[in-house]
Order: sequence, then C-alpha cells, then structure tokens
Amino acid sequence: MSGESVSGSAGQAADVQAADVATAGLEGPGLFVVVEGGDGAGKTTQLDLLQRWLQEQGHDVERTREPGGTTVGESIRELVLEHGRGEVDPRTEALLFAASRAAHVAQRIRPAVRRGAIVLCDRYIDSSIAYQGAGRGLGVEDVASINSWATEGLVPDLTILLDVEPSTAARRRAEREGAADRIESADEAFHGVLRAAFLDRAAAAPEKYLVLEAAAPAEQLHQAIRPALEDLVASHPGLAQRSGGA
Ligand code: TYD
Repeated sequence: MSGESVSGSAGQAADVQAADVATAGLEGPGLFVVVEGGDGAGKTTQLDLLQRWLQEQGHDVERTREPGGTTVGESIRELVLEHGRGEVDPRTEALLFAASRAAHVAQRIRPAVRRGAIVLCDRYIDSSIAYQGAGRGLGVEDVASINSWATEGLVPDLTILLDVEPSTAARRRAEREGAADRIESADEAFHGVLRAAFLDRAAAAPEKYLVLEAAAPAEQLHQAIRPALEDLVASHPGLAQRSGGA
C-alpha cells in the first residue's frame, strides 16, 4: 500500500525504532489476549463476556478470530473449513492457517497493539500446533516454526485455555445449531490428542497461560478470568481508552 510506505530519514528512523521494539519483545502499549481450546469449549461465550466487561471500563477492544479477521483471512477460512472445496491435505491446511495468521498479525493485531488496544482473539498459534502439529501428525516443532515465521514472533501476553473433556465438547457441539465444519467432524480420539497438545503448551510457559476447566458455568469461568486481566491492565499503563466513553 503506497499510503503506508515511508521514505527518507524520518522513515528510516521509524523502521529502526520498530526493529528495536520488536527485538525487545515490546510490541506497543496494548495487550494481546488469546482464548484457546477444543471445539465446543465455550470460547465464544467467554470472549463475549470479556469484551463487554472490558468495554464497560472504557478500553479500546479489538475482537477478532482465526482463521479470518482480514479479507484474505476470511477467504482462506472458507477454503480450509467449508466442506466441498476438494481435498485439503495436512501440509496445505497448516500453510493456509499460517497464511491467514500472517495477514491477521500484520494487518490487524500488531496495528491494534501499537495503538494501545486490548486485542481479544479466538484461537492463535496453539490451535495450529494442536490441530495440525499434534492432531494431523505434522509435528509440533515444524508447525511452531512456520508460525513463528508467519507472525514474526508475535506471542500473546496471555492465553486463556478452556480445557474441556472430549466427551463434554462432543455433547456441546451436538447441541449447537448447524452442521459441523470439516475439522469439527473429526473423531473423539483426535480431540483427545488436541487437548493434550494444548495442555503441553500451557505447561511449557505457565506464566503466559490461564488454564480453566471449561465444564464450569460460564459466569463462574468469567469471574475466574477477570483477575488475570486486571493484573495485565494494571501493568500496561499506556492502554488506550475508547473515544466517546464506554
Ligand atoms: P471455528 O468455526 O472458529 O470453530 P470454534 O468455534 O471451535 O473455534 O472453526 C475453527 C476450526 O479450525 C476449528 O475446528 C479449529 C480449526 N483450526 C485449526 O485446525 N488450526 C488453526 O490454526 C485454527 C486457527 C483453527
């Protein structure tokens, strides 16, 4: 996009600054929060409650989801999730999710964090590690590596993992309206593998995760999530407020 290109010494200075910020792992004044879990874990309900609560406090909240969140990402979502698009082999699937994520980070998540928003994202890299890396057997390390490249190393400030027994998740999915998508239709053993992969990710970096038993009532889960957000908000004094109030 020509409107965003920079030239001359001011542009170069901005580039150097941006590079320094990325190296330091500081992406900007905002926050990047992800909700993860198997299909039927109740992520949407928790994201709705969290979004409303944060907005009531006047925060600038950017709600988004994967795959999707951008024009190109939503097209990739159709390709990879809809039945009847022809065979999607596991490597193609992994690369499509990573491509959608690259666009999402570049076009939406990083800009929002830089303006001081709280980004609430339904799924991120851990979904690829669980579904493609563990579930489809592509290997956790390889899938982590292509995603690290795709996102230029952007890591969430917090991942809320809604941990759910495969049988509970299956029941919830059956109760939901509409047909299962291509990936949701996989069997219960697959969902057990996913669950273990999500829990492994959380165990490897416990300071970055909040793991909750998703069978609990929605309001109880929401109350358990609030303190973690309050801590993060308190440690990010540069968060933006929405113009025009809550
Ligand atoms: P979605 O309709 O968003 O389901 P949910 O409400 O369960 O999040 O569908 C996303 C599907 O895509 C879901 O089955 C998980 C899968 N998925 C992957 O396999 N890899 C990924 O990297 C992502 C983001 C999603």
